Amino acid sequence: MTDEPIRLTSTVKGAGCAAKLAPGDLDRALCGLDLPVDPNLLVGLERADDAGVYRITDDLAMVQTVDFFPPMVDDPYQFGRIAAANALSDIYAMGGTPRTAMNVVAFPAKTLDLSVLRAVIEGGLAVLREAGVVLVGGHTIEDPELKYGLSVTGFIHPDRILTKRNLKAGDRLVLTKPVGTGIVTTAIRGGLADAAVTERVTRNMATLNRAAAETMAKFTVHACTDITGFGLLGHLAEMVVDSGCGVRIDAAAVPCYPEALQWAAMGLIPAGAYNNRDFRGSFVEFGAGVPRRLQDLFFDPQTSGGLLIAVAAGEAEALVAALRANGVAAAAVVGEVTAGPADRIVVE
Ligand code: CO
Ligand code: CO
Ligand code: CO
Repeated sequence: MTDEPIRLTSTVKGAGCAAKLAPGDLDRALCGLDLPVDPNLLVGLERADDAGVYRITDDLAMVQTVDFFPPMVDDPYQFGRIAAANALSDIYAMGGTPRTAMNVVAFPAKTLDLSVLRAVIEGGLAVLREAGVVLVGGHTIEDPELKYGLSVTGFIHPDRILTKRNLKAGDRLVLTKPVGTGIVTTAIRGGLADAAVTERVTRNMATLNRAAAETMAKFTVHACTDITGFGLLGHLAEMVVDSGCGVRIDAAAVPCYPEALQWAAMGLIPAGAYNNRDFRGSFVEFGAGVPRRLQDLFFDPQTSGGLLIAVAAGEAEALVAALRANGVAAAAVVGEVTAGPADRIVVE
């Protein structure tokens, strides 16, 4: 017996947000169900958004979300940090302030030591503390595979809710984290990633979208979402569908991990990227100059990705400068909202 630390990613089949049920499957399962109607339900299931919003008074609403998944990195503490940053992200994407959280845990007690569970929860607690969020409880079941995440509740003013809707022609699109975490974590699982890129992707995934959200609150933002399992183009498709607007993405301006591009060129693409392309590819038109590896990267399922912000054109440069000044180093204008063709994403 060696004393080598366990490699969490070798104990699970899925990884991170890439373990989501294939897009389309959930739509089919829920299609036609009798969903609740309530005048205080401001954002609900009828239109997929990052979180649900329920009005309590005229100037206070509650924002609720839940996210959990299997590990995409080997270190239990870092996995806990990433899962917490990812779960909080949906509240920030709505423009809300997270306040309380509950752990959601599935743990293989027969095959993993309890110290692993402790480290995962410790990592989650560290990020909750950083976010000013109080852990109020949780639920743990025994399961063949480790999964961890949180249900998070926050607050928001009912007039200040940011959804995926409401794109305006002329808006600039700002992205706050590099894309490629699905490809890089696939390389980590395969033992191909070196310590430097593993550390970089882990740090980015564990970084809260709090600074980005607090910064964007000072600008004229029309819509926002966070980039997770459906990838950059999958989430953009959710913003563009029925918007009446088009979107143009400047492929060269999208921040990404250079290693992810190399691995994509070698065909190291997570299955989720193909699912995303199958489901949302019909919205997207790639220019002749956009190589296949970049196309794959833009459909790559992200774990704890950045915010994608639609900001008034005249404020885009100032928003990017403010984001960078607040530590959001990767922030960049990646495209713009166009008057047409409607409901189309053009990548050039
Ligand atoms: Co989201
Ligand atoms: Co989510
Ligand atoms: Co939103």
